[in-house]
Amino acid sequence: QLEKLKLEMLQDKSLPLRIGASNLVFGVGNPDTSTLLIGEGPGYWEDLKGEPFVGNAGKLLDQLLESIDLSREKNVYITNVVHHRPPENRDPLPSEIEAYRPYLDKIIEIIRPKVIVTLGRFSMAKFLPGVKITSVHGKVFDLDWKGLKIKVIPMYHPAAALRSTEVMRQIREDFQRLPTILQE
Ligand code: URA
Repeated sequence: QLEKLKLEMLQDKSLPLRIGASNLVFGVGNPDTSTLLIGEGPGYWEDLKGEPFVGNAGKLLDQLLESIDLSREKNVYITNVVHHRPPENRDPLPSEIEAYRPYLDKIIEIIRPKVIVTLGRFSMAKFLPGVKITSVHGKVFDLDWKGLKIKVIPMYHPAAALRSTEVMRQIREDFQRLPTILQE
């Protein structure tokens, strides 16, 4: 189902960021997982390689996953709010997020995760509009999303952790709490 959806995306000429992008960055990981991580959008390296989180922020994300004995290949699925790189790595526009939304929604419907970790404010706003990351990071929100019961845990974006030692401390702490939540 994911492969079919990816083919659909590759053929969708209406996706606003496809001009200027080198590759579609669809997702990576184990589709049979119960844990979905959603970031913002591809950067330089992701665009080049066609895989999410393979630059510096991605290295940190892999370390954070390793610190709780999880790997991107086996234990989680990782995707983004937009699946082509915005020019100059700018923030995705609301209209762009909206254009990619049906695909992200389908990815979620196919994977049917029990837990979604949002990385950064754009994926957080999809599930928890109007909240502030400083007050909600690491907390568990029990949501009914299109009939699916999902625990959403907003976390800082790993790139933000690379810019601030305090955010780094908090993201590490938040990840340490994940195994208990996953066991539930
Ligand atoms: N940042 C993101 O949000 N997603 C990626 O895939 C890479 C960096």
